[in-house]
Amino acid sequence: MNETIQKAKALFAPVPRVQLGFFPTPFYKLERMSKELGVNLYIKRDDFTGMNLFGGNKIRKLEFLLGDAMAKGCKAVVTYGATQSNHAMETVSACRRCGLDPILYLTAVVQPDEKDVRANLLLDKVMGAEIHIVDIEPGETEDDAEARSFVMGAEHAARLTASGTPCYDVPMGGASHVGSIGFANGFVELAEQLDELGLNADYVYHATGTGGTMAGLHAGRKLVGSNAVIRSITVSPKNDAYLTKVQNLANQVLADLGSDLHVDRDADLHMDMNYYAPGYEQPNEKASEAIKMLARLEGLFVDPVYTGKALAGLIDHIRTGKVEQGSNVVFWHTGGATALFAEQQMLGDIF
Ligand SMILES: Cc1ncc(COP(=O)(O)O)c(C=O)c1O
Repeated sequence: MNETIQKAKALFAPVPRVQLGFFPTPFYKLERMSKELGVNLYIKRDDFTGMNLFGGNKIRKLEFLLGDAMAKGCKAVVTYGATQSNHAMETVSACRRCGLDPILYLTAVVQPDEKDVRANLLLDKVMGAEIHIVDIEPGETEDDAEARSFVMGAEHAARLTASGTPCYDVPMGGASHVGSIGFANGFVELAEQLDELGLNADYVYHATGTGGTMAGLHAGRKLVGSNAVIRSITVSPKNDAYLTKVQNLANQVLADLGSDLHVDRDADLHMDMNYYAPGYEQPNEKASEAIKMLARLEGLFVDPVYTGKALAGLIDHIRTGKVEQGSNVVFWHTGGATALFAEQQMLGDIF
C-alpha cells in the first residue's frame, strides 16, 4: 500500500469509535452509465454502510460520535432533523445497537400524516425513539423552527444530565468535527481502493446538506494528497458562511488527527447550488430523471432529496462539459433510499 495512505490510516487509530458499519464499502465502475455519459463513472456504495438495511453516510459519522458519547459515559443521545431525516433514523438505529436512549427533535418540513406514517419516521417509531415533532409556526421559516428545535433539544439534554442520565447532544446531520472524522476516514478508504485499482480520480461528486460529509471528505483528501476535485451539490440554499463552516470543520478534523495540513475555502471547496430547487425535500425534474436513468441503466436507486439531486448535478456537469469526456469520476452514493417510500410530496413524478 502507498505509504501516504498507510500513514493517514494510522492517524485514526487513537480516536474513540464504536463499530457500526461494514467497511470498506463497495467501489466499482458503472459500465452502462459510463458508456451513456462518455466518462469513466465509478460509484462508492455508502448506501451499503449498514448497519441496518438502509445504510448511508451517517453511519461513518456515528461510529465516532457514539464512540465519543460512550467514552464520556453518556446513556442517552438527543439529535435533530426533518421528520423524514435519514440522520435521525440512523442515529436511533445506532443508539439501539449501543444501548443508548435515542431522543429526536424533528422539524415538520413535510407534515407527517399520523394515520399513514412512512419511511424514516415509521422506522423511528418501530425502534421506539422518543420523538418530539416541532411544527413550523405561522410567520416562522424552516430555519427558525430548526433553531427552536436545537434549543429544546439542548435543554432536554441538560435536564437529563442534571438528573443523572448523561445525555450526548449530536448536532443535526452529525456535522461536528467528531462526526466529520468519519468522512476523512472515508476518503482515505476511497484512496486505498483507487490505489488498488491503479486509478486516479479526477472528480468526486456528492450531495451536501449540513456540510459534515463535505468537511470530512476535504480533510481526508488533504491527508492522502489527492488531486481529485470534490464537487458538492447542495440540497438546500447555502451562503458564504456555509463554506466557512465547512472549511473550519475540515481544519478542526485535521487538527484533531494531529495533522498540520489545511483546507482552503477558496482553493479547495467547490459547491454548486443549481440542483436543489424548489427547495429541501421538494422534488425536481432533473433529479427525477437522474433517479430513472440510474435505475434503468444500472438497477440502482438514488433518492429524491439528496443523492438524486447530486446525481442530476453530475449528469448535467458532464453534458455541459464541466466534466471533460473520458474523465475518471466518482459518484459517492450517500444513501437515503427510504425517501423513495416517503410522502408523495417528497417523491414527485418518478415514473
Ligand atoms: C442520503 C444523504 N446524503 C447526503 C447527505 C448530506 O450529508 P451532510 O449532512 O453531511 O452534508 C445526507 C444528510 O442528511 C443524507 O441523508
